[in-house]
Amino acid sequence: YLKMKKHILVVPGDGIGQEVTAVGKKVLEKIAEKFGHEFTYDEALIGHAAIEAAGNPLPDETLEKMRASDAVLFGAVGHPKYDNDPSAKVRPEQGLLKMRKELGLYANLRPIKLFDELLSASSIKPEILRGSDILFFRELTGDIYFGEKGRENDGDTAYDIARYSTYEVERIARKAFDAAMTRGKKLMSVDKANVLETSRLWREVVQRVAKEYPEVTVEHQFVDSAAMLLIKDPRRFDVVVTANLFGDILTDEASQIAGSMGMLASASIGDGTGVYEPIHGSAHDITGMGLANPMASVLSAALLLDISFGLKEESDAIINAVDLVLKSGVRTRDIADADTPKDKILGTDATGEALLSYL
Ligand code: NAI
Ligand code: MG
Repeated sequence: YLKMKKHILVVPGDGIGQEVTAVGKKVLEKIAEKFGHEFTYDEALIGHAAIEAAGNPLPDETLEKMRASDAVLFGAVGHPKYDNDPSAKVRPEQGLLKMRKELGLYANLRPIKLFDELLSASSIKPEILRGSDILFFRELTGDIYFGEKGRENDGDTAYDIARYSTYEVERIARKAFDAAMTRGKKLMSVDKANVLETSRLWREVVQRVAKEYPEVTVEHQFVDSAAMLLIKDPRRFDVVVTANLFGDILTDEASQIAGSMGMLASASIGDGTGVYEPIHGSAHDITGMGLANPMASVLSAALLLDISFGLKEESDAIINAVDLVLKSGVRTRDIADADTPKDKILGTDATGEALLSYL
């Protein structure tokens, strides 16, 4: 068995990013110990924490450390002071967007994995949910998030430009088709091609790439219809590929299939170092209270091992431990319901300890 030597950069960021990433890191340490790998770690600043320390939401030092590491375990960015001040020029999420652009992280994978134990944690009926298993590919370095933005008419008019080029659609489409080949050979491409020119290009390119994958059944859906179908019939979805903005919104919606944002991990991959992070943000409303669900970070660590290091067995061991913790009845507050006994509702650290004991 091959022992691996890898260097992991831990970037907790802001708010509950700090709390959940600490658990994700402990799980990685446990895996290294259990399987005999040698993982070394470093930490770096991003977001509000980096603005406070260096006046820059993504200091060069952080970017260099990211480039020099084998993978990044990331938390979240954000602070209430910017949410209430839209005019702030230097903002935490600029660090996140710049990181994605600089590292060429054009594909964001978001598996919507429903653990059976959480069927009742969702607001969707169990008989509709049971067996749902979706893998989103959200494009991450283009679209309206990265186009020109500004104001005109003395600030009375605002604009954001959406732009996509053929190669950008092609590379994310290929990643999604490759994944479809390893799963149910079904792919849904989501766009708004009845209205948007970027979406018409998107659909053309996906149709062209589809010819390279004759075994995959392709379905095109408009985003409004896809949003409706996700709640009506989640089992209809397998692999989904979509643009940055649509993917951002649809995956938060899809988090309700898994029961909570606190359960959903993501992998951002592309040209260089992969970045693994929960889909949730810094959650000011529960920051510092020890209530955050650490599973999204822990499952991000599992994705890191699988995708960046090719350590499938180790990755599965983490997913299995999450399953066992849930089977034991342990719940953080976000996934607890009226039937959860009080003594089974645990905080972030205690949930982490439960995970480590099962590992
Ligand atoms: P959020 O994802 O931080 O929180 C939404 C809701 O879900 C909150 O009620 C929160 O308590 C709950 N929640 C999220 N993660 C949880 C977890 N692990 N365990 C238990 N409950 C959890 O989104 P929100 O509130 O819209 O934004 C808060 C800040 O985060 C903002 O400053 C925003 O800009 C930033 N943000 C950052 C992201 C990132 O770094 N990738 C993504 C989304 C938002
Ligand atoms: Mg989002």
